Amino acid sequence: MPNAPIAATALLLALIACGGGGEQTGGDTTTTATTTTVTPTGGEALYQQRCLSCHQATGEGLPGTYPPLAGSEFVNAADPGVPARILIHGISGPITVKGTEYNNLMPPYGVGVQMSDDEVAQLLTYIRSSFGNTGSAVTAADVKKARDETASHTGPMTVELLKPLMK
Ligand code: HEC
Repeated sequence: MPNAPIAATALLLALIACGGGGEQTGGDTTTTATTTTVTPTGGEALYQQRCLSCHQATGEGLPGTYPPLAGSEFVNAADPGVPARILIHGISGPITVKGTEYNNLMPPYGVGVQMSDDEVAQLLTYIRSSFGNTGSAVTAADVKKARDETASHTGPMTVELLKPLMK
């Protein structure tokens, strides 16, 4: 039977062609792009949303226009009521930060319900421990105290009102 191996081979090839072919569906190549962006929360997120546009990502501000938070005597004041008052009411008029005078206007963030005591506390704690700063953590109670003590104040803060707290 010399033809038997050939017939068997032909049958085998036919089986491979029918059953073994077809589309490769096993290795589905649809891949989901994984983003590894870490979304900041708390004080860092609040800083990015509310302060970064003026005081910059580095906390260095913009020369002549926006004073630096990095190394600022107002940010790092021993009494957290100082930066709390600035955030709650904003600040205007001449202010000397790290030896350079600015005379501009910062909008208020704590008038009405723009930022809660807890949010202001988180934000202040963040800026007092970032950009090389070494100020102590700030609590919501500290912010409430500053809010209560300046409840009758209208308009932005001024350096004259802050100076007595910085001695
Ligand atoms: C629209 C721009 C603008 C935004 C937004 C802004 N500031 Fe200011 N900030 C200023 C200006 C201008 C001054 C200086 C005001 C003056 O000359 O009296 C200032 C002053 C300050 C000061 C006191 C001076 C210093 O450099 O330490 C602090 C503290 C401060 N800002 C913190 C913040 C924080 C925290 C936020 C975010 C909630 C913020 N600012 C958002 C413009 C801005």
